[in-house]
Amino acid sequence: MKKMIICNHKMYLTYDEARAFKERLDDIDKSNIDLIVCPSFTNLGLFNKYKLGSQDAFYEDKGAFTGEVSAYFLSLIGVKYSILGHFERRACDSNEIINKKVKSALRNSIIPILCIGESKMEKDLMKSSEVIKKQLKEGLKGVTLNKDDEIIIAYEPGWAIGNESSLTKDEILDALSYIRKILSSCNINNYKLIYGGSINKDNIGKILSDEIDGYLIGQASTNANQLEKIIKSVK
Ligand code: PGA
Repeated sequence: MKKMIICNHKMYLTYDEARAFKERLDDIDKSNIDLIVCPSFTNLGLFNKYKLGSQDAFYEDKGAFTGEVSAYFLSLIGVKYSILGHFERRACDSNEIINKKVKSALRNSIIPILCIGESKMEKDLMKSSEVIKKQLKEGLKGVTLNKDDEIIIAYEPGWAIGNESSLTKDEILDALSYIRKILSSCNINNYKLIYGGSINKDNIGKILSDEIDGYLIGQASTNANQLEKIIKSVK
């Protein structure tokens, strides 16, 4: 199975910067990799040749929701994936809201990339397992996957985002094995399990494993040279 590399561009690139990045990306060998690009909303159109993801998606289809962009609207312009419950958005989105977003994504044939992970404070209080379990149980409450539905679960501890170094491979595998048990208890079987948090060209080699289906990459994915090196290591 091809490994996924999901590029979360956050709010790093302006339209012109994203266009320059895309020109470089076009020339990179991406064979044997499942590459998904999640640009800013303003830059989605630039990447329409790629598997396209949004960084969020609102749960109502249409209506008086100033500033929101729905999964329905995104599906109409070719978005196939949506990052939901990202750590940087959880300050505004409860598990209940994230659950609505997961359901509306699936309803609109968008594959949710459900992000879960504890904060630094929760880790220090030894609450990581409890938090992850709650995020999964509540985020996936009432979600039933049809035969063709898929979901991606991204383990991304808040304390590991935007740092110099990622978790060790053993730490990642321990967390993923715990997540698999919870998913099975939620009757979710058709999923991919990926890791994200401070991945870069220098540390990716240390966290490659058959048990990790892919990688969610933030800042390093906005630099085409660095992304090219990451892709080479992963494939
Ligand atoms: P980072 O972000 O790679 O810049 O740590 C990852 C993410 O938040 O998705």
